Amino acid sequence: MSGTGPIGGARPADRPERPTLVILAAGRSTRFGRAKQLEPVGPGGASLIEYTVYDAVRAGFGRFVLVVRESQRDEFEARLRPLRDAGISLSFAFQRLVDADLVPLPPPGRVRPWGTGFAVLAAAAALPRQGPFAVCNADDFYGRVAHERLAHALAASPPGIRAFTATSPLADTLSAHGGVSRGLCEAGPDGTLLRMTEGLDLRLDGDASRTGNGDAPRAGAGAESPAAPPGVVGRTASGAAVRVDADSPACMGLWGFFPEILPQLEERFRDFLAASPGLEDEFYLSEAVGDLAAAERTRCGLVPVGPGWMGVTFPEDRERVAVSLRQLTEAGAYPVDLWTPHVRPEPLRAAQASLFGPPQASPGGVATAPGRINLIGEHIDYNGLPVLPMALDRHVHLEFEGAEHATVQLEGDAAHGSFAFRLDRTIESAPRGHWSNYVRAAARGLQDHGVGLKRGIRGTVTGTVPVAEGLSSSSALVVASALALLHANEAEVEALELAALLARAERYVGVQGGGMDQAASLCGKEGHALRIDFGPLRVTPVPVPEGWRWIVASSLARAEKAGAVRELYNERRAQCAEALERVGRTSWPEVVEADEDEFAAILAGAGKSLPLTLSRRFRHVATEGRRVTEAERALRSGNMAAFGRLMNASHASLRDDFSVSTQALDEIVSVALDAGAAGARLTGAGFGGCVVALCRANRAKAVIEALIDRFYAARGGVDRRALFVADAADGATVTS
Ligand code: GLA
Repeated sequence: MSGTGPIGGARPADRPERPTLVILAAGRSTRFGRAKQLEPVGPGGASLIEYTVYDAVRAGFGRFVLVVRESQRDEFEARLRPLRDAGISLSFAFQRLVDADLVPLPPPGRVRPWGTGFAVLAAAAALPRQGPFAVCNADDFYGRVAHERLAHALAASPPGIRAFTATSPLADTLSAHGGVSRGLCEAGPDGTLLRMTEGLDLRLDGDASRTGNGDAPRAGAGAESPAAPPGVVGRTASGAAVRVDADSPACMGLWGFFPEILPQLEERFRDFLAASPGLEDEFYLSEAVGDLAAAERTRCGLVPVGPGWMGVTFPEDRERVAVSLRQLTEAGAYPVDLWTPHVRPEPLRAAQASLFGPPQASPGGVATAPGRINLIGEHIDYNGLPVLPMALDRHVHLEFEGAEHATVQLEGDAAHGSFAFRLDRTIESAPRGHWSNYVRAAARGLQDHGVGLKRGIRGTVTGTVPVAEGLSSSSALVVASALALLHANEAEVEALELAALLARAERYVGVQGGGMDQAASLCGKEGHALRIDFGPLRVTPVPVPEGWRWIVASSLARAEKAGAVRELYNERRAQCAEALERVGRTSWPEVVEADEDEFAAILAGAGKSLPLTLSRRFRHVATEGRRVTEAERALRSGNMAAFGRLMNASHASLRDDFSVSTQALDEIVSVALDAGAAGARLTGAGFGGCVVALCRANRAKAVIEALIDRFYAARGGVDRRALFVADAADGATVTS
């Protein structure tokens, strides 16, 4: 291979101390319209390539090879001069149509570059003969964590694994603005790559439930679902339809290799040419490595890097990336000017001590917190009355390491983006609706409780709790964040105390919630519902009898706590307090625990003395409080028919007296009951979100099918985030 030339730093050394990163920047940006690789996206005008180099240096990479077209060289060289001035070793390799060895004569009419696999071969001459190297795309932002994970994988590579590919859940890598190309990975039993298919024009399937194309290849189909999993559709290079799960691992275009991959790639490229490819056909790196893995020539490890990745396929993607970079910069994760002298030495020094040196101790781990469904007792926790939820077998996961500084820096999925804030300054709220507010709330809550947070955390947040569905994804995030911060600071707070302080803390976000969600997430118990009492907080697990199922069904309307629900919720809370005061009572337990006759008299009195709305609110809280006591009794005695009837009464009361149901929620309840559920009700705050239906195990299939046919079919189908059977799970944990 020919055509390389260093523009700064050292020439390739035989034994580099730190690995090389090859950045593929020769793409033609057809969908983007301009040379997007150099497009300024950071607040100081830096391009994505510069962020990649900056992050990779901090992750331990020492040299960079940029694969460009020859005609782009001057432009790249001029734009990237600040990197060379900062002492970064940067070389160019040229991706040409003609190569003395491989393609002495290109086919007539060929204009399209040969593809990413060939681009790596083009960089071969600039690579050291020994030691690992990595490859990534110039128009993607991977984040520091991804580069670090890959570097770790290369440094600690188990015998026999000579290639790695970084993966993210496919859904997190799509663009809202059109179809994208991704390598679709399938893992074998040992967790390494079994095969990889390049998927083109990938986008979320409009009707995920039933359009599964039986002929299309599938990767990583989930077994958990009663309904079809959410799908992504597209095609392969040969035009065959593809449909895969949205959470199946997608190759991020970030690879790690050892040099022996190069002759193997070369051989594959010769095969590709020998098969007389069409003028538009490309030799994809993903397919080549996939083929080598499938033929058991190369074992390729999968390195999940979380969802912090951001790509710029379409011009519209740029704005989102720019906003995230600005936020990260404002929060101190990046300097405005990446290459100013006062910033430069620090990451370079840090890199030296980093991955390819001795391993560093860091109090990191994974904090996992479940969401919840409430079985009965809705809108009464903030009135001091017991409730009966259970922790859900769906979780928020926060994978983190302790940061040297008091900075919290987290990456979410593509839709949520990244953020950072400091713990050693007043923790201000982010704009309303921003997900970082739940993490900020956890940190503020701990600080207000007197927990000194000297260390921050750095990591990624992923999860399986559907967001804004009334299943408490936000409290699960608060709980996971608190556990991670405590762990990083080697501090402890007892579970109930933590639940209570986090319930208070979550109110910083603006919803004057009760304490059910945080307690359920922290104190869940597998196979058990939880009776939660307030003032003081107590949690009593109650076993759920065998042979019954809880079906969760989304109304497909988001119940966004930070959105309109916030005002409606707070209004209900204020109405309850006013109603109680106007009937001359000082506490709800006093009302709910009255004997039969007195209770009837209190209700009748409230009906006469209160304005209509307040009397309805009063009736809901009072009767729901009594239903919880009866429901607990029914659960303990295994009388699930009675439990179901109480759920139905609860729903009617929430619909008619508390006015928090919607037409869709009512419809789901009635379809479920029609199909044989013993009871069904909205769960959570309402105004959208989900229904929970109780049924015998042998009725579950019929209920699910009825919901699909009679509710979801007319609404474009359903996936397993929206319709599933829930099991009662254990509470939150943090593991090293
Ligand atoms: C939200 C709140 C809870 C509770 C429910 C309604 O989930 O966070 O505290 O009030 O609504 O029961």
